[in-house]
Amino acid sequence: MATAFSFAQTTLFSKTSPSLRAACLRSFTFCLPFSSSSAALSSDKLHSKKWRQPVASVLELGGVRIAKDDVLRDDPTNNVPDTIFAKLGLQLHRRDQHPLGILKNAIYEYFDTNYSNQFDKFDNLSPIVSVKENFDDVLVPADHVSRSYNDTYYIDSQTVLRCHTSAHQAEILRRGHTHFLVTGDVYRRDSIDSTHYPVFHQMEGVRVFSPQDWEASGTDGTSYAAGDLKKCLEGLARHLFGSVEMRWVDTYFPFTNPSFELEIFFQENWLEVLGCGVTEQEILRRSGKTDNVAWAFGLGLERLAMVLFDIPDIRLFWSTDERFTSQFSSGKLGVKFKPFSKYPPCYKDVSFWINESFTENNLCEVVREVAGDLAEEVQLIDNFTNKKGMTSHCYRITYRSMERSLTDDEINKLQASPITRDDWNVRELVQSKLNVVLR
Ligand code: DAH
Repeated sequence: MATAFSFAQTTLFSKTSPSLRAACLRSFTFCLPFSSSSAALSSDKLHSKKWRQPVASVLELGGVRIAKDDVLRDDPTNNVPDTIFAKLGLQLHRRDQHPLGILKNAIYEYFDTNYSNQFDKFDNLSPIVSVKENFDDVLVPADHVSRSYNDTYYIDSQTVLRCHTSAHQAEILRRGHTHFLVTGDVYRRDSIDSTHYPVFHQMEGVRVFSPQDWEASGTDGTSYAAGDLKKCLEGLARHLFGSVEMRWVDTYFPFTNPSFELEIFFQENWLEVLGCGVTEQEILRRSGKTDNVAWAFGLGLERLAMVLFDIPDIRLFWSTDERFTSQFSSGKLGVKFKPFSKYPPCYKDVSFWINESFTENNLCEVVREVAGDLAEEVQLIDNFTNKKGMTSHCYRITYRSMERSLTDDEINKLQASPITRDDWNVRELVQSKLNVVLR
């Protein structure tokens, strides 16, 4: 499906993904070279980059104080880089003047109006969750690819940065809530392009039904919940987009059955806007709701906001440039973003012989470590295997700032500085952290 907004981020859990075993084989050496204990990951060096914003070393997340050392551990099971720690606690979705906050509030408004304030709202839950909450509680299979170190940020072997807001479903159900929305920042190791960023925002919705809700309807609980879910989400899509063409696509999620994706026809493309379904009975049973049926949905706020506000690059959501922030105001959903200027890109290629543990996510992590938000895209442009069976990859890195013109000199330094310089550069780090041989 070639839509402009085809986010791998929303499809991590859908369809049948390759198993974790395969992913681990690909990223096996990742644990050691990527841990914060690795000499190559000296945070002092990475901190010395001029354009990095200062990072607080103690944060408050969902009422809990978190020190930097709690997240960046000197431990081989930890793969959280500095750049990700810097995003913790920013909570863009809680800013009423920010496109993500404006969108969240518009969705709240839809639910409040149509369900007389019955939905409880959570938007301040800590993104640090257990492996059990993130995966086991929502029935993600033990060998699912999303559990790999290549896809998820691990703080230690039992603790992750949530990769979806579904991580909170089970706990909130256990606490007795029957209608709720959970909004939060979620974290995924991923590729680099205009629609992918390792931190993004999701909203989860859950509604629980009791037998009396469906008994009078003459249908079974599952059909009743599926019908109600579709009606609710079609109404939400109309509330946000006006009268658009929509279609439902059957899919697979570990936590729902049946499962669906909603697509809307937007600017000549079918755009996947959310995943949803009827909650697996096992999740309800474990939360003490044996006689109930429920529906659940999860949507990516950036994807919707990029369409609704005409925002062309996902990095802009993090911009503190007044020319971006001043264009949005609380309660105004329809505003179209006017690009303030498009600065020229700078392209640099890097070629190397890969090894069997090489993954593109690991490469992108290295590029982000060095270049931060200046990295706009990392694209494989050449791939061949020689007679000896060695495979070479050539990647084109696009550097571009959203806010200023970059100089050749600074990009050359990022890509490959002279050996005397003490900051790391992409070529050096690719070699030392990914154990590949530069060409
Ligand atoms: N957690 C899913 C994801 O991140 C999205 C999702 C799909 C949430 C279906 C749900 C659901 O609650 O029912 O890809």
